[in-house]
Amino acid sequence: LNPSHLMTLTLPKWFDLHTHFRQGPAMADYLKAHLNMGCAGALAMPNTQPPVSRVSGSAQPDSWSIESYSADLKAAGAGNFEHLIVPLYLTRQTTAQMIRDGATSGILRACKYYPPHGTTNAEHGMPMDDLIGGEVLRAMEDHGIILCIHGEQHALSGPDYLDATQNAETRFYRERMPRLIEAHPRLRIVCEHITTRTAAEFVASTPDHIGATITPQHLLYTLGHLIQGLKYHLFCLPVVKFQDDRAALREQATQPGQSKFFAGTDSAPHTTKATPCGCAAGCFTGGIAPQLYAMAFEEAGLDLSTTEGQSAFTNFLCLNGPAFYQFPASTQTFQMHKAPSQASLLDTPNGPVTPLSVGLGIELTWQIA
Ligand code: NCD
Ligand code: DOR
Ligand code: ZN
Ligand code: ZN
Repeated sequence: LNPSHLMTLTLPKWFDLHTHFRQGPAMADYLKAHLNMGCAGALAMPNTQPPVSRVSGSAQPDSWSIESYSADLKAAGAGNFEHLIVPLYLTRQTTAQMIRDGATSGILRACKYYPPHGTTNAEHGMPMDDLIGGEVLRAMEDHGIILCIHGEQHALSGPDYLDATQNAETRFYRERMPRLIEAHPRLRIVCEHITTRTAAEFVASTPDHIGATITPQHLLYTLGHLIQGLKYHLFCLPVVKFQDDRAALREQATQPGQSKFFAGTDSAPHTTKATPCGCAAGCFTGGIAPQLYAMAFEEAGLDLSTTEGQSAFTNFLCLNGPAFYQFPASTQTFQMHKAPSQASLLDTPNGPVTPLSVGLGIELTWQIA
């Protein structure tokens, strides 16, 4: 028995249903890192500069269209994907007519809600209170367009981002989500990168047309990991939370037969991660995401050598996302070995990017075959 191959998993290629490929010359490197980790497709977030805030037409100084950004992604490597989704960035300029036209043409599949100023390039966002009950969300509901939500509600006064009893995410899931769902009962929603027990249990309690993505870092780490040694490569938004939150995410993600929770890495490369006054938000997990997810499932107590363990892992990584977005799962496969591996810096024309495991100084316990 070769100890470096104690276990091999053969899995359908997976889909990263929340990731950032950015724009410009580094995009090709980010896409290659995804293709090299068995990824068959992605939902590429629209918080580019300028944002992806129109459906069709050519790129303009103030906006990309879904059409133009998708064409750039395809030319840079996403042409090798089986499936690519670019959501529309909801802004004050988004109209119900854009939603109807985009749905009819088939170009528009999803829209992304950003809390204004909540995160990187999120300053164009439209407040949730102004969207709820409005004609944009009605048109999305009527046409089956999915709403991807960055679910954080920032307090109006003061930086109480992470209060002891509530935080921006719990506030959003307690105060805004119930109202959103009540006003739009048929709206298909993906709660992106959930981080708290409140959000996990909220999503679990809703009908099947509401799901959630979970990142590898939120399944693996807590605020303690971020703070001990100030591991700034682990700094992302929403920030990693507490052990009880992580336990709730693990419970939902690994639940046998669950169909609401799926992989969305929120891989967010920054070539300038540390700055003189702090640090950009985003963990880069290109090249290492399935390995990290496998490590998280094992830490959650799943035995990936068993049929049950493999089934839960495959549902989360490879099957639930395509089912939710209503496109076929991949018929191609990739393999992972249970064997130690080390990631390395990704060189791009804009400078190197540090994968999360390198930034944390950890070895991966899995490798892509
Ligand atoms: C935003 C997103 O979800 O796309 N949030 C995030 O990635 N954690 C991205 C962003 O705002 O930059
Ligand atoms: O950590 C994050 N990085 N959170 C976000 O919301 C945005 C993302 C990015 O684009 O860098
Ligand atoms: Zn987000
Ligand atoms: Zn994101």
